Amino acid sequence: MKKAIGLTVGALVLAEIAVWMGQPRAAARAADAIGAPQYGTDGKLVRPAGYRKWAYLSSGYGMSYSDKGSADGHLMFTNVFVTPSSYDYFVEHGTWPDKTMFVLEVYGSSSKGSINKHGNFQNEFMGLDVEVKDEHRFEDKWAYFNFDVKEESSEATKPSKNDCWKCHDQNAAVEHSFVQFYPELLKIAKDKKTIKESAHIG
Ligand code: HEC
Repeated sequence: MKKAIGLTVGALVLAEIAVWMGQPRAAARAADAIGAPQYGTDGKLVRPAGYRKWAYLSSGYGMSYSDKGSADGHLMFTNVFVTPSSYDYFVEHGTWPDKTMFVLEVYGSSSKGSINKHGNFQNEFMGLDVEVKDEHRFEDKWAYFNFDVKEESSEATKPSKNDCWKCHDQNAAVEHSFVQFYPELLKIAKDKKTIKESAHIG
């Protein structure tokens, strides 16, 4: 844990130096590697390009939160990643530290391709949903962003307590994260007793 914080601080310092030297790309790369949120001069969140090397939490398939399901019946996969040092922190405490960032990537699905005869696999990339815990920057602590297939930066979804924020606030098991759908984290949250009383996890 101490090591993780040391690494995070070290990488943040490197990112600061890179900004200071006028190398925003190097800064973005350094921040990306550790999974710290990075904002442009316009205040938009920079696309977290390196998230595939972060900690992988779980995947959903065709998940829908309304009775109807998806309008066209096309089921999507979602893969969730989190800042590596935040993952270490969660293992120890069962909660998320400030500057945690989650990426949910969306993929289409197919059952027909190559040698596949049954079941479904992921095919075309459809975009990213991003959630950031940044207590000083956002008055409601958690902020939400959408990136299409290649957008470089994105503005926080407004108003601050929007539909994303509300659903996560009301239904997520731990703080704003849907740990009830990430089996390995759920065990930790149960053990640390950090599941919100209001959450339906069963
Ligand atoms: C009606 C409820 C609901 C709304 C509205 C909603 N989400 Fe979520 N979100 C979920 C659920 C359930 C999960 C669990 C995992 C999944 O879907 O794969 C989730 C997971 C996530 C995750 C992964 C980390 C986590 O918190 O578990 C991100 C990132 C995310 N949502 C972003 C967004 C963004 C951005 C919006 C708004 C544009 C949004 N969500 C709106 C229910 C919601």
